[in-house]
Amino acid sequence: MSDAIERVSLTIPTELVDELDSAVEEWEYASRSKACRDALRKFLTDLRWQDDPEATYRGTITLIYNHDAHHVTDELLELQHDDAETIIATQHVHVDDHLCLETLVVNGSGEAINRLVNQLRSLNGMQQVRFAIV
Ligand code: NI
Repeated sequence: MSDAIERVSLTIPTELVDELDSAVEEWEYASRSKACRDALRKFLTDLRWQDDPEATYRGTITLIYNHDAHHVTDELLELQHDDAETIIATQHVHVDDHLCLETLVVNGSGEAINRLVNQLRSLNGMQQVRFAIV
């Protein structure tokens, strides 16, 4: 991506600008422009994600599940081996006696990632599955 910067002027409702300024202060952004650039990148990434399932995306899938649920650990492991091309790294944390938190770093087509997310959601004992695209 080019480092060139362009100054643009936008028309935004005052209420939204006030919210933006509060967020900039609360989240200690360097500037309003930096916050807008980040928001715009997320907006465009989300749009592309919906429009082009064949493009390559990267991000993390975060799971939290009860490892006591019938077959969940075996099925989860099998899914990960089946999708080894898309899943490039995993991390497992034992949250307590029953809950496990796992992050999968993925890099693949939107179609493959979507399919994987849906398969993960359907597993027994799965409590939450979140994909964060970057
Ligand atoms: Ni665990």
